[in-house]
Amino acid sequence: MTTITGVKCIRTRSNGTWGIVKITTNQPGLYGIGSASDHYHQRAVIEAVESMLAPKLIGRDVSRIEDIWQTFYTSGYWRNGAITNTALSGIDMALWDIKGKEAGMPVYQLLGGACRSAVPCYAHAGGGTPEALLEAIQGYLDEGFPVVRCQLGGYGGGGFIPSEDAPRPANAWPADKVFDDEAYIEAIPNMFEYLRSKLGFGPKLTHDVHEHLRPQSAVALSKRLEPYRLFFLEDVLSPEQVQWYRLIREQCTTPQAMGELFVNPHEWTPLITERLIDYVRVRVSKAGGITPCRKIASLCESFGINTAWQEGGDNDPVNQAAAVHLDMSSWSFGIQEENTFSEAEYAAFPGACELSEGHLYTNDRPGLGLDIDEDAAARLLNLEDAATPRYAAEDRRADGSIVRP
Ligand code: CO
Repeated sequence: MTTITGVKCIRTRSNGTWGIVKITTNQPGLYGIGSASDHYHQRAVIEAVESMLAPKLIGRDVSRIEDIWQTFYTSGYWRNGAITNTALSGIDMALWDIKGKEAGMPVYQLLGGACRSAVPCYAHAGGGTPEALLEAIQGYLDEGFPVVRCQLGGYGGGGFIPSEDAPRPANAWPADKVFDDEAYIEAIPNMFEYLRSKLGFGPKLTHDVHEHLRPQSAVALSKRLEPYRLFFLEDVLSPEQVQWYRLIREQCTTPQAMGELFVNPHEWTPLITERLIDYVRVRVSKAGGITPCRKIASLCESFGINTAWQEGGDNDPVNQAAAVHLDMSSWSFGIQEENTFSEAEYAAFPGACELSEGHLYTNDRPGLGLDIDEDAAARLLNLEDAATPRYAAEDRRADGSIVRP
């Protein structure tokens, strides 16, 4: 029997926001790696892996992935929190990696085998002006990306107005710019009007609201964007307001993508089973790894919903590989968010998925197909940068109230 002999979490990336779980076994040279990265609370996740979960894992049979997942899911009694899910994800992915190595097969083979030859991705295009954005989109289309996300600068871009132009209280808190719903729901349809006039309706385009809007503005924006036939509109609502998707559905056909903030089955299950969204965007590590996400993909298949696993810039190559193995083997796959890394980061993860002409390719090595070079990973880490606390964006409205990030 192959048993677990060690569990540790390797902190890496310059800013220390990547946590890679490494599980070693009683078989010489046999180990697995998994993603337990968290851009804001990495030290808490490392503590959860090494102090909370590792002691109970030592000595267990590596083959029992489902049982280990279910056991550790409730091991702290309270569950479905981002920190414990992320820690559990690192363990879960590492166990799938080990299972693949023992079987001599890539993980996507264990999940049922390939049902597509590679994984189509969407790129992130941004520009401060519609003209600059158009140029960025054209670059990605030329490169071969089948879908491109279109943003007017950063998240909320198009909705910010200079503070001096906004009616603000006499005692207003200092701010250079404020977010305004009405400005946003005017600017974004205008942006797509321009893009469609230049590109036609051939290119598949998306937009990410990053939950900045009030719910009634989200309904209005979805309806106003209908003529521009988006591939999907992302996070038009915050997770607290998902009931509003029912009203959006009654108003328009703009496809909706949601879920990168989800950690709890009670969040994604009703949206899928009531067919209130079109793409599920859970981050694989935030649901707890491959084990829960392959179930989400199956649920999606039954209800005609597609997956679009979240893979923005703060993810690591191991989480990307886990998403790609799910993508390769899930019929309910819709599109994959792209992610790329620096040369030094790729060097620390030999065998990472290759992104070429808008598609991600896995290799045929057993397991997740990639390794961690621990010396190279240690060299990436900048201790001073890693000690700096990190927080999500703090955008505010004219009266000073905070906007959901
Ligand atoms: Co997003």
